[in-house]
Amino acid sequence: MGAHKHRSVTASSINILWRSSFDVETKIFVGQGVVNRIPGLLSQSNAGKKVLLLRQSQAFEILRRGLAQELSDNGYELFDLVLPDGEACKSSESLLVVWQKLQEFGFARNDTIVALGGGAISDLSGFAAATYLRGINLYIIPTTLLAQVDAAIGGKTGINLGVGKNLAGAFYFPKAILVDTGSLATLPPRQISSGLAEVIKYALLEKTIANETEYKSGPKPLWDLLEKDLKSEEFYADPLCYGIITSAIKMKLGVVAKDPVEIGLRRCLNLGHTVGHAVEKASAYSLTHGEAVSIGLMFAVDLSAKLGLINAGLTETLRNLLERVHLPTVVPKSITLDQLIKALFHDKKRQRDEYQLVLPVEEIGRVNYSYRMNSDDLARYVKDFLVDH
Ligand SMILES: NC(=O)c1ccc[n+]([C@@H]2O[C@H](COP(=O)([O-])OP(=O)(O)OC[C@H]3O[C@@H](n4cnc5c(N)ncnc54)[C@H](O)[C@@H]3O)[C@@H](O)[C@H]2O)c1
Repeated sequence: MGAHKHRSVTASSINILWRSSFDVETKIFVGQGVVNRIPGLLSQSNAGKKVLLLRQSQAFEILRRGLAQELSDNGYELFDLVLPDGEACKSSESLLVVWQKLQEFGFARNDTIVALGGGAISDLSGFAAATYLRGINLYIIPTTLLAQVDAAIGGKTGINLGVGKNLAGAFYFPKAILVDTGSLATLPPRQISSGLAEVIKYALLEKTIANETEYKSGPKPLWDLLEKDLKSEEFYADPLCYGIITSAIKMKLGVVAKDPVEIGLRRCLNLGHTVGHAVEKASAYSLTHGEAVSIGLMFAVDLSAKLGLINAGLTETLRNLLERVHLPTVVPKSITLDQLIKALFHDKKRQRDEYQLVLPVEEIGRVNYSYRMNSDDLARYVKDFLVDH
């Protein structure tokens, strides 16, 4: 036998470049009584006949009854699941309960989850809808101001794990979001203030968002409207309420359309959140998210002023506005510098030893959303910020 020549086999390869973007359509309605549109929307989209309502509080009994009536008049079957209140519903246990109920009730892919409540319920419901059968219909009825202007918008869903918040999640977009401003009538004042912290954040971002997205500002900057007339008392009845909520939603949508998965512009929405998240965590969540963001906004503006990026006068202007709507502007004395630094250094936005901060620059409404600072410098400024401790 002659010598056997070993032939090298060249594996052929096919290179495929697949570009995907979130090509989804979400209808958003803002106003009183918009919830009644659900049966019409379901039938337009040829949705299945089963609807699971996820909510937390018995307070929504009247709304639930109205919705049940509307749905049954139109041939839909409503299932109702009440989950633990507040952040407690964003757990793997609740997710499992929702999956089990969907299975038990025989939900198919074209059936629908309706989330009724604050950001905690919309985050959990979104993740359940994203994962059950790899995605079933989702409608959101956000009932806190924070959920209306922020949590329900933008497709981020998730639950908390033992070690931290929002650690398991997915991007998933609802078919519709129904913002019933009337639902804010029962919301406790502290929760209204909390939502207003995010609204004030949007006002500090408006020019940057208008420059870089399809968003168009109204005749007056949001900041000017807030500074002149904003109050937190009976906000739901305030003539400003509808316009403020609509502007905030449009700003967030503009940003999300430009940068769905947060590689650039979407980072601007983290204004006030680096230190805000750390304060929230260090307070063992006794502060609401918005209260922590309020303190984080003060830190960001104070830092910008110290770095000479903005006029120092903005610090006082912001403090006055936040205090007017009953938001805190300093880190509570019960939180030590050590606790805050420890919480800060676990921030998931930290890249190696460097932070990308969102800082106001030049004038109200404009930010730099990738201001780099190393952790030693950041720690030093945080220490400065706690000067009264
Ligand atoms: N997905 C996102 O992009 C995003 C963005 C921001 C925040 N979040 C998440 O949102 C959550 C916070 O949301 P939240 O501030 O709405 O808090 P929440 O959902 O915990 O609601 C706060 C409280 O208000 C009650 N409530 C809700 N609506 C009410 C109403 N109309 N009347 C009376 N009581 C009412 C709730 O039962 C709860 O007790 C956090 O889990 C946060 O991580 C998500």
